[in-house]
Amino acid sequence: MKQVVLASYAKGNPKASDFRVEDVGVPVAGEGELLLKTLYIAVDPLIRFSLDETVLSGTARMELGAPVIGPTVSQVVASNHADYEVGDFVEGRTGWAEYTLVAPDKSDYRGPPRKLDPALAPVSTALGALGGPGQTAYEGVVNVGRLNAGETIVISAAAGAVGSMAGQIAKALGGRAVGIAGGAAKCQGLLDLGFDAVADYKAPDFADQLKAALPEGADVYFENVGGEVTLQVLPLLKRGARMPMCGFIAYYGVGMEGPGPDHLPGFYRQIMAKGLEIKGFAGIFAGQKGLDDIAGWMKEGKITFAESFVDGIEAAPEAFASVFSGHSHLGKLLVRVAAEG
Ligand SMILES: NC(=O)c1ccc[n+]([C@@H]2O[C@H](COP(=O)([O-])OP(=O)(O)OC[C@H]3O[C@@H](n4cnc5c(N)ncnc54)[C@H](OP(=O)(O)O)[C@@H]3O)[C@@H](O)[C@H]2O)c1
Repeated sequence: MKQVVLASYAKGNPKASDFRVEDVGVPVAGEGELLLKTLYIAVDPLIRFSLDETVLSGTARMELGAPVIGPTVSQVVASNHADYEVGDFVEGRTGWAEYTLVAPDKSDYRGPPRKLDPALAPVSTALGALGGPGQTAYEGVVNVGRLNAGETIVISAAAGAVGSMAGQIAKALGGRAVGIAGGAAKCQGLLDLGFDAVADYKAPDFADQLKAALPEGADVYFENVGGEVTLQVLPLLKRGARMPMCGFIAYYGVGMEGPGPDHLPGFYRQIMAKGLEIKGFAGIFAGQKGLDDIAGWMKEGKITFAESFVDGIEAAPEAFASVFSGHSHLGKLLVRVAAEG
């Protein structure tokens, strides 16, 4: 089988050459273990936090030469555990490998694999609309952003997995959703998903596009990016706006100091002058209530799941690097490793 291992710790934004594809033997399930066939790999930006040689406390560092760990959907092909049967679909954090072993009772930070119901929705959605990105979007819009019907939310990285869900959840709640994304095609994709207005941050007239999209300002800023995008958004926030701080992908490759202190004074001035409420959240997910609400909205046709695929595990390094360098995919980008069944 093939697996993708970490070849060198990332410097700046990750590159495909930070990884290596290897041929190894398929492992055999021992006592209490499952052998999983990987179907889908999610190339999540947060994996970047584990690729530094020196990592922040609380982040697990990946080992050189070991398979990259991240969110996957798999199918059980051998089970020595009473709770799982051959053929079950599961979602969990496993290695970027065509086959992988997990021990559901072994307590580590990953937890036991979550069993999936393929009748509810395609199992790949466990990595998108009905998984971490969906729950993150729900947490940010509903619990942290506290968006009310009639209010306006502006979302950065809106064409990504989290952002595309955040906008649709905002619409389902009766809000007005404005999305920021890179490129005209992605912006059109957001309008097709039901966003009310868009702004292309790669266009020379981004600032004007954003002002036109937010004629009365915004009540909530769903922050995924940081940097120049955020500096353009801040002046357009209303007094007392809420700012769920979900991510800051523009800074992931440049270390915790950011590109320099020059942006921060203006940023803090806006927080102070407008009494902005900024609240970070990580891993505090909306739980089953969030997933049930999203599944209900999907049934009512209020939310569609946006997913894009690239094929073969060898494509994982390039796909992951493209999350940071810009790609043309809408919604959750998944590596399709094997066919289901
Ligand atoms: N707090 C939490 O618990 C939590 C959980 C999951 C994710 N997150 C965070 O949420 C954010 C979105 O995650 P996701 O899963 O939706 O990712 P995703 O689907 O991979 O989308 C990421 C998108 O970010 C945009 N981007 C990348 N670099 C950028 C830059 N320098 N400036 C502006 N935009 C840039 C790109 O879209 P364009 O083509 O439009 O540039 C890219 O496709 C990330 O910051 C992630 O770390 C947080």
